[in-house]
Amino acid sequence: MSESMFKKVFLRFCLLFLLIIVVKTTPLKKSKKNILESCHIKGQIVYPNNSKYTQDVTSENTRVTFNPAAIVYASNVEDVQNTVKCAKSLNLTITARSGGHSYEEYSIFGDIVLDVTNLNQIDINNNTKTAVIGSGNRLGPIYYKLSQDGFFIPAGSCPSVGISGHALGGGIGLYARKFGTASDNILSIDIVNANGSLITANANQNEDLFYALRGGGSNSYGVVTSFTFKLHPTPPKVTSFKFQYDLSKIQTVFNAINKLGLTITDDMTFSMVMDPSSDTPLELDGVYQGIKKNAQKDLENFISLSKPTSTNFFEESLFSSVVRWSFESVNETMKPTHHPNKFKAKSFLIKPPGLSSKGIQSIKNFTSKTPKDCPTFAIFDLFGGAINRVAADETAFVHRNILYGIQLYMGLNGDSTTNKKCVDQINNFGTNYQKSFNITNSYQNYIDKDLDNWQTRYYGSNYQKLVSVKKKFDPDNFFHFPQSI
Ligand SMILES: Cc1cc2nc3c(=O)[nH]c(=O)nc-3n(C[C@H](O)[C@H](O)[C@H](O)COP(=O)(O)OP(=O)(O)OC[C@H]3O[C@@H](n4cnc5c(N)ncnc54)[C@H](O)[C@@H]3O)c2cc1C
Ligand SMILES: *[C@@H]1O[C@H](CO)[C@@H](O)[C@H](O)[C@H]1NC(C)=O
Ligand SMILES: *[C@@H]1O[C@H](CO)[C@@H](O)[C@H](O)[C@H]1NC(C)=O
Ligand SMILES: *[C@@H]1O[C@H](CO)[C@@H](O)[C@H](O)[C@H]1NC(C)=O
Ligand SMILES: *[C@@H]1O[C@H](CO)[C@@H](O)[C@H](O)[C@H]1NC(C)=O
Ligand SMILES: *[C@@H]1O[C@H](CO)[C@@H](O)[C@H](O)[C@H]1NC(C)=O
Ligand SMILES: *[C@@H]1O[C@H](CO)[C@@H](O)[C@H](O)[C@H]1NC(C)=O
Ligand SMILES: *[C@@H]1O[C@H](CO)[C@@H](O)[C@H](O)[C@H]1NC(C)=O
Repeated sequence: MSESMFKKVFLRFCLLFLLIIVVKTTPLKKSKKNILESCHIKGQIVYPNNSKYTQDVTSENTRVTFNPAAIVYASNVEDVQNTVKCAKSLNLTITARSGGHSYEEYSIFGDIVLDVTNLNQIDINNNTKTAVIGSGNRLGPIYYKLSQDGFFIPAGSCPSVGISGHALGGGIGLYARKFGTASDNILSIDIVNANGSLITANANQNEDLFYALRGGGSNSYGVVTSFTFKLHPTPPKVTSFKFQYDLSKIQTVFNAINKLGLTITDDMTFSMVMDPSSDTPLELDGVYQGIKKNAQKDLENFISLSKPTSTNFFEESLFSSVVRWSFESVNETMKPTHHPNKFKAKSFLIKPPGLSSKGIQSIKNFTSKTPKDCPTFAIFDLFGGAINRVAADETAFVHRNILYGIQLYMGLNGDSTTNKKCVDQINNFGTNYQKSFNITNSYQNYIDKDLDNWQTRYYGSNYQKLVSVKKKFDPDNFFHFPQSI
């Protein structure tokens, strides 16, 4: 693997090799007997004394560790119901876990982790163009399985991300400007609520819950067991594209984005990475829904204004575009594994007309100056198109007037003192940045325990309604974590 390839891979957080991280566990709640023995759970239960425990409690971001008293691998919906009822009767808290990619590891925050990995059905209905997708599926296998039948759903680019956390908080990827967020494509949700009942939320039943789950659904209202998604037929070909830019001319690129970003064809979505320490310090990667000739034509104006130093177009199948931008092998995309590493990230969602040149310069300066042990890069995701055509109050996903999102992502490779200093540095930068440039919105899927006013930043004017739905469906706040509704 070349160094630049390694960096690319690291850029998208999907390290190619599995690091074995040893997490020191000092279980907080030791209990002499099997606390869940009378719960009628058929699936496996892993306690801290199990040799699997350390590995099973290690999720994606090892900056954060919690020590749950048990991990329950639900084998079916009944197991979910019984675990909820039993935990409630034992006065224990639960957090649901799907892909384990929460940036703050909120899926292992509870006394009991209710892992839904084995709720992994993908049942496609060719006639209605819908699929029932179990809440434990990962994005890679979903893309793969749907592609076998000529379908896809729009979602993010990392194959190991779980569908539940992802779609319940929005879900943005390289198909979003044409097809919306993952949450926008949900037709119905089955969920086990706080009293252990399995209920359905869609446009006809529990509409208020359906609204709340599409954007504000992570572990606040219940444990989702399955989603019904609207499917899209895969186009015969899509065109992936990759443009390189001279970092010193970044303002030229943003002038083009600010001018064309909201009017450029919905057929394309892109994500641009700024990583000053890389040999490709400014690279834009995207997918166009159509053949290469049309992609080149529709992007002509953007190219002539933004002035890339090189352009590449790759006409390919939709699934190949998924594999390409996962920076993983086909096998890893189809059957993803965890890649534990330490990181901290910040999210800023930018409204039109875009940041001033000072705002861009300031991000560039920050990413250029962070210590070697804390390599930091920025990812800019173009919004607009179908994402912005949904009204802000139609679902809990409020971010409908955004031009582009910025994610500032810091790897933490130093000792604990260095890492802490680095985290303080990125936190301070984030706070000042929001103030200086009047940035109000942050993306709830890049969840950040150090964010101020998270209620408003994640949910805006939808927050009050989310609270009232919470009162109705989980009045005792059984489902909670530090940033739950
Ligand atoms: C490497 C990486 C790449 C990413 N790429 C993208 C991207 O391209 N686009 C994008 O939009 N986002 C991306 N994200 C963010 C991702 O969407 C969120 O981290 C998401 O919450 C992860 O979902 P999960 O199921 O994997 O995580 P989990 O940690 O399992 O869950 C996240 C939250 O959802 C809750 N939850 C999990 N399962 C259920 C359930 N069944 N019912 C109710 N609540 C549940 C958990 O309790 C937790 O609060 C990425 C994250 C990482 C780490
Ligand atoms: C591990 O802990 C569980 C629950 O506390 C208990 O039921 C089980 O007997 C323990 N197993 C061993 C091998 O000690
Ligand atoms: C339940 O647990 C909470 C927190 O651990 C505690 O404050 C509360 O008193 C407990 N309630 C009962 C009925 O035991
Ligand atoms: C749906 O269509 C695909 C592709 O045409 C086919 O392989 C699959 O068997 C069909 N499934 C059903 C249930 O008809
Ligand atoms: C549990 O919740 C469901 C759905 O909200 C409700 O119909 C039912 O009455 C509740 N059951 C109990 C025992 O509270
Ligand atoms: C991918 O998986 C297939 C089938 O399991 C296997 O034959 C092949 O060797 C794998 N390829 C790589 C590169 O690991
Ligand atoms: C960025 O850094 C340059 C060089 O150190 C400095 O001149 C400039 O004022 C900085 N700009 C911002 C917005 O921080
Ligand atoms: C900051 O943003 C808010 C909301 O977008 C807007 O109402 C306000 O006028 C802005 N303030 C400044 C100083 O730009």
